[in-house]
Amino acid sequence: MRERHLTGITTTGSPHLGNYVGAIRPAIAASQRADVESFYFLADFHALVKCQEPERIQRSTLEIAATWLALGLDHEQVFFYRQSDIPEIPQLTWYLSCVAGKGLLNRAHAYKASVDANLAQSLDEDAGISMGLFNYPVLMAADILIFNAHQVPVGRDQIQHIEIARDLAARFNHVYGDAFFTLPSAAVDEQTAILPGLDGRKMSKSYDNTIPLWLPEPELRKAILGIVTNSLAPGEPKNPDDSHIFTIYQAFASAEETATMRQAFLDGIAWGEAKQKLFERINQDLAPARERYRQLTETAQGRDELEAILQAGGQRARARATPFLARLNQAVGLRSVARLPVGSASESSKLLPALAEFKTYRESDGLFYFKLVSAEGQTMLLSRGFTAPKDSGQWMAKALESGDQFAVHPHAGGFAWQDEAGAVLAVGTVAADAVQAAIRALRADRDAKKAEKAKAGSSA
Ligand code: TRP
Repeated sequence: MRERHLTGITTTGSPHLGNYVGAIRPAIAASQRADVESFYFLADFHALVKCQEPERIQRSTLEIAATWLALGLDHEQVFFYRQSDIPEIPQLTWYLSCVAGKGLLNRAHAYKASVDANLAQSLDEDAGISMGLFNYPVLMAADILIFNAHQVPVGRDQIQHIEIARDLAARFNHVYGDAFFTLPSAAVDEQTAILPGLDGRKMSKSYDNTIPLWLPEPELRKAILGIVTNSLAPGEPKNPDDSHIFTIYQAFASAEETATMRQAFLDGIAWGEAKQKLFERINQDLAPARERYRQLTETAQGRDELEAILQAGGQRARARATPFLARLNQAVGLRSVARLPVGSASESSKLLPALAEFKTYRESDGLFYFKLVSAEGQTMLLSRGFTAPKDSGQWMAKALESGDQFAVHPHAGGFAWQDEAGAVLAVGTVAADAVQAAIRALRADRDAKKAEKAKAGSSA
């Protein structure tokens, strides 16, 4: 199975150079890896939280989608879609909302920052705060969990959102007794350049210091000439490590080009010339894609093509999401009533999600093992080999009884259980929460059957 990477882009603005260097370029590079399955989507439901101007949402969707395609995203190799084309996402948002503690969401940074800002102005703490803002992390969790993504490439500011998604996934798995969701991780790439903007602070829409990605050449040049520098004269040596021009150049150039530019700084290159070189280097990357971008955004034919690509992407994504949501519907009890057998309540347990199973067996090495296998046949937990079958059997019984309370230790690719002496007893190959939830579900099933039998015995 390939590792799944997923990330969303909120459709409220126009792409700028900072987006290109920090998100788009690395994502397109990652999407070319054969061992990774990539999901990139336009988070237009999220956009509604921040923006209530319909034309702006539509325009931004067009521009962002065209940008990714013009810069070479292979939409047939990856899943590239619009969030609002996947109705399973808002549906899952509701299920997750029903297992999400309100207290957990009270602690979300974006919501808390808005509350704090209100209090600082002596306003009501919830002034101007919508339920959309409050639920933002739940919607984002649904984006991630509907495709069971493993890795979510994001900026630092989004780490808490991924933690909330993990929390909700584990809670849902626990409540409904099966490993429905993979627990996602945030992938924050420390190597990725953070581009300074016109004023030297991080290039960001919120600072209004951005250089739009698709400016026509003369305007791009003008914008770059407008980046702040110090007042050192031509011929005076300049410190590359203290220059935004150099930092931006480095984000586009090869190591060799960067070394040449570093020397030019030390040799006292004039600011005007350094900026001209920076413009040329950036333009070299963007010029080949600029015409394709113009065609996709500014011609009727291009827009039709783009819309068709998004719809096809939505269909491919739904081919994954629809059957998965059907399984979740079963799990939470949104089921056909026709399938509930008449008369016997206990029979309905047949409709519960399939359980995992403990198995004990002998390997060709002569040792005895036990393992926990999910209903889908995936080995979730594998014991060490025991010389006596009795030991394997006893540890297996103990695992069923209290394995969800065993201490878990990090271990290559997963976690380990250890006995009192610290020797590894069994190794888990999926998240520990999933193993614990599966064990609890098994025990609950066993206890229910026991109770059923006792009742049948006493009434006979
Ligand atoms: N909240 C993200 C941002 O502001 C965008 C986003 C929405 C997202 N859904 C997501 C990112 C799912 C990663 C995964 O940047």
